Amino acid sequence: MMSKASIGQSRNIVIGSLLLLCSAVIFYIYYEPTMSWRPCSETPLSKEDICTKACLHVPKVENQSQIITNCTSVQEKMSASQSPSLEKEDAANPHESETIVLIWKWPFGYQFELESCESDYGIKGCHLTADRNLFDKAHGIMFHLRDIGGEVQYLLTLSRSPRQKWVWMKMESPANSPQLNGADDLFNLTSNYRRDSDIWVPYGRIKEISDKDEPFKIPEKDKLVCWIVSNWNNNYRRVGYFNELSQHIKVETYGRHFGRYVNGEDYGPIVSSCKFYLSFENSIYKDYITEKLFSPMRLGTVPIVLGPSRENYEEFIPKDSFIHVDDFKTPQELAEHLKRVDQNQEMYEKYFAWRKDFAVQNTLGHEHACRICEHLKRHKNFKIFKNVNKWFWS
Ligand SMILES: *[C@@H]1O[C@H](CO)[C@@H](O)[C@H](O)[C@H]1NC(C)=O
Ligand SMILES: *[C@@H]1O[C@H](CO)[C@@H](O)[C@H](O)[C@H]1NC(C)=O
Ligand SMILES: *[C@@H]1O[C@H](CO)[C@@H](O)[C@H](O)[C@H]1NC(C)=O
Repeated sequence: MMSKASIGQSRNIVIGSLLLLCSAVIFYIYYEPTMSWRPCSETPLSKEDICTKACLHVPKVENQSQIITNCTSVQEKMSASQSPSLEKEDAANPHESETIVLIWKWPFGYQFELESCESDYGIKGCHLTADRNLFDKAHGIMFHLRDIGGEVQYLLTLSRSPRQKWVWMKMESPANSPQLNGADDLFNLTSNYRRDSDIWVPYGRIKEISDKDEPFKIPEKDKLVCWIVSNWNNNYRRVGYFNELSQHIKVETYGRHFGRYVNGEDYGPIVSSCKFYLSFENSIYKDYITEKLFSPMRLGTVPIVLGPSRENYEEFIPKDSFIHVDDFKTPQELAEHLKRVDQNQEMYEKYFAWRKDFAVQNTLGHEHACRICEHLKRHKNFKIFKNVNKWFWS
C-alpha cells in the first residue's frame, strides 16, 4: 500500500513533468521560429497526437496564447488520467544517432520492409519510416515523383529545416512521366536509374550468391514464350516487334491488353513456367532496364530483351544470360532460334550457367531509401538541385 505522502509525491512529479513539457513546447515555439508548429486539437502533447498525418495539413499556428491555453487544458486532463510514462517516452528518442529517412509515399503504393538496410546492403544506422510525424526530425525525405503530382503547391508551403534534404526519386523513364512544374527549388538530390543521378539505384542487380541462397534449379516449364503487357501502344517499338514475332512462334500473352489481368500472386508461377519471357521495355533509354528484366530473371526464365543496346545490358547482367532482339536480323530468325533451343535442353541450360555464382536482387524503392540514408550520412554539404526537369526531360 502506498502511503498518503508518496501518492502526493508522485502526483507532484506528474504535474511537474507536465509543466516542464509545456515550457519545453513554448521554448521550442519561441526559439525555432522557422519550424511550423502543427498541434492537434485534442491532446497536442501525446506522442501519437502531437502531429498525426492529418496535422501536417493544419496551417501554421501563430497564436502562442492559444497553444498555452491548450497546454493547460491538456495538463489538467493528464493529471486526471495519470500517465507518468509520457514524459519518458517523449524525451527518449531511440533513434537519436540514426539517420532518419522519411518515405513520403510508398512508391507505386508498394510497401517494403523498413528495417533491413543493414541486412540487405550493409548500411548501418538508418531509420526508415513512413510516419510523417517524424517530418521535423527526418534528415531526408524521399519523394517518389509519380505519386506527388498534385502536391507541389502544398509541398511548397511546408516549412523545413535548412538541413533537411529532399530527394527527387523516380523509377520510370522520361517518356512515361509528366514533368513537375514549380519544383525547381524543392529538391536537394536525385535518385534514379540514371548513373548521373546523385544516388544511383538500378532496378535490380546481379549479386554473388551467399551461403544462405538455395542452389538454383531451373523451374518446370510448360510454355515456350510468354509476355505480360498492360500498356499497349501501337507506336511502341515492342508492339511492332511482337506483332511480327507472333506470326512465327506462339506467344502466351497475358495482361490487361489481352483481357488476362495477372495479379501479384499469379505473376511468379506464370512467369517461371515459361522458357522465355519478352522483357520488352516500353521506351528506350540508356540504362533504362527495369523490373521487366530483373523479375523474370529472378524467377528462372530466359529474358528476351528489347531496350537499349546489348552493350548497355551487358553492363548489368552476364552476356550469356539473355537474348537481345538485335542478336537476330529479323523476328523470324529469333523465332527459329527459340524453336531450336526448345528442342535442345543442353543449349537451354547454358543460359543459366551464371546462376552457379550469382543471384538476382530486385530493388523497387527499398534500396533507394537505404542508399539515400547512406548518402546523407556521408555528405553533409548544402546542395540544391535546380532544373530537374531540364536534366531529366531533355
Ligand atoms: C486548442 O484546443 C481547442 C479545443 O480543444 C481547439 O479548438 C483549438 O484549435 C486548439 N488550438 C490549438 C492551437 O491547437
Ligand atoms: C490568440 O488567442 C487568444 C485565445 O484564444 C485570443 O484571446 C487572442 O485574441 C488571439 N490573438 C490573436 C492575435 O489572434
Ligand atoms: C535543401 O534545399 C532547400 C530548398 O532549396 C534549402 O532550403 C535547404 O537548405 C537545402 N538543404 C541542404 C542540406 O542542402
